[in-house]
Amino acid sequence: MQFPHVDPIPIPAPVWLMKTLSLLTLTLHFFAVNILIGSLVAVIVFSVRGQGKDKGSSGAALVVSRRLPIVMTYVINLGIPPLLFAQVLYGRALYTSTILIAVQWISVVFLVMACYWLLYRISAKAIEGKPVHWYASGALVCAALVGHIYATTMTLMLKPEVWQEMYAKSATGLQRAPHDPTTEPRLLFVLIGGFLIGGFWLTLHSRLKTIEPETAETLKKLGSTFAVIGAVGELGAGIWAYSVHPAGVLAALSTPYYMVSKGIFVVGFALALLVALYQLLQKKTGALLSTIGGLGGFLGLAGAVMVRDGIRDVTLQQKGLDVWNRQEASNWFVIGLFLIVFVLGLVAIGWLLAVMKSARPITEQVNS
Ligand code: HEM
Repeated sequence: MQFPHVDPIPIPAPVWLMKTLSLLTLTLHFFAVNILIGSLVAVIVFSVRGQGKDKGSSGAALVVSRRLPIVMTYVINLGIPPLLFAQVLYGRALYTSTILIAVQWISVVFLVMACYWLLYRISAKAIEGKPVHWYASGALVCAALVGHIYATTMTLMLKPEVWQEMYAKSATGLQRAPHDPTTEPRLLFVLIGGFLIGGFWLTLHSRLKTIEPETAETLKKLGSTFAVIGAVGELGAGIWAYSVHPAGVLAALSTPYYMVSKGIFVVGFALALLVALYQLLQKKTGALLSTIGGLGGFLGLAGAVMVRDGIRDVTLQQKGLDVWNRQEASNWFVIGLFLIVFVLGLVAIGWLLAVMKSARPITEQVNS
């Protein structure tokens, strides 16, 4: 028996419900991670250029930097729900993999804290008109390391055949997972998305009424270029990340559900690519255009997340763990309460956005 015994407590909600919520929140998590990564790369570019006293770049660095701590709250808060669902559904595989590389796994907490701290420094320094590229590079490295640890863990949980040997070698949690050809492509897929979603994030902000025209122009130019690179990159990295998985696993992903998921992936990123190309070639952008491009990116990510989930389920099933085969004792009162609070939360966010939109804007400029 490669997997630990099943948890004695039945799961408190149906598998399909947990999976749906997990897929939705993980797509949102990737979306937020993409904004973070894209913003950090952009801030580095703007800050380096701004040193040559390019006013547009200094202004653009400020606009993007100021929003970084807020973006990070979304990265974290949208990462927690899929973590909880993954633990409940795949605990027998996930706990084992996290324990085997425990030191790396726990270091995520410190890396996220370091990243967060750097984001606040970037925001404060940008307001003072100081260069921020070193801070942004540091934050980018921290974020990429967090992503690498997640990709390593989520890959190791699919390989029960190496657990015994790893544990026999060392029980300290200090070791690294054996190399797996799928880890890097999976990580790359999420990081490259930074150019796509981050690109639309920049073009969206180029429409702000509170910024100087040269700042708007700088945001629009780099954003349009980023979005094209990102859309092509996502299609390429997604197909690569898919194709490196074993043929036996991929063969099982030809059911109608996964064909539709793959279709969503292609249609979403193709739509994003079209919008990105239009923006770049026509040198035009708008809130609606950026939103459609962002929605295309979101769809593409959602399709990829569905296929990624299938890869996990099929791999584990072929090795003896069937996620659908769990004893369930749904507590519908608690589930209902959760759904009500969930909807109320969405309404509250909508209300906050409406208040923000109707508030009197303040000019965003560098204090010098
Ligand atoms: C800078 C911060 C972060 C980055 C760059 C990042 C990046 C990533 C990447 C690359 C993956 C995909 C791994 C794979 O497919 O193999 C991932 C998955 C995941 N991340 Fe994040 N992440 C960050 C922060 C967080 C935080 C703070 C949490 C939780 C509190 C979190 C929760 C998750 C979960 C639960 C998954 C996998 C879910 C599943 O497989 O069902 N992430 N993240």
